[in-house]
Amino acid sequence: MNKPKYHIFVCTSSRPNGQQKGFCHTKSAGDLLSNFMEEIEERGLGGEVFVSNTGCFALCEKGPIVVVYPDNVWYGAVSPDDVEEIMDEHIEGGKPVKRLEL
Ligand code: FES
Repeated sequence: MNKPKYHIFVCTSSRPNGQQKGFCHTKSAGDLLSNFMEEIEERGLGGEVFVSNTGCFALCEKGPIVVVYPDNVWYGAVSPDDVEEIMDEHIEGGKPVKRLEL
């Protein structure tokens, strides 16, 4: 397996015990995760771009939170409708989406 060019972390408020506690999962983080998975698949980027759901980043009031590595770019208040722009501008274009950056 090759290491990914980008790894996208989507906060879904997950906890080690399997429960969800926090803010992001109440604000469409599940749809956010699904949209990233679909966009990665449709663009044929499956081997280059990984997406994972995570636990709380302690920025709940600014959620839903998305973090992109290795760029260390943190996005806040991301909606499912923002996924296409992040994929176009940042993941494929190399330029983070300034209006969503924290
Ligand atoms: S639940 Fe997402 S940052 Fe806290």
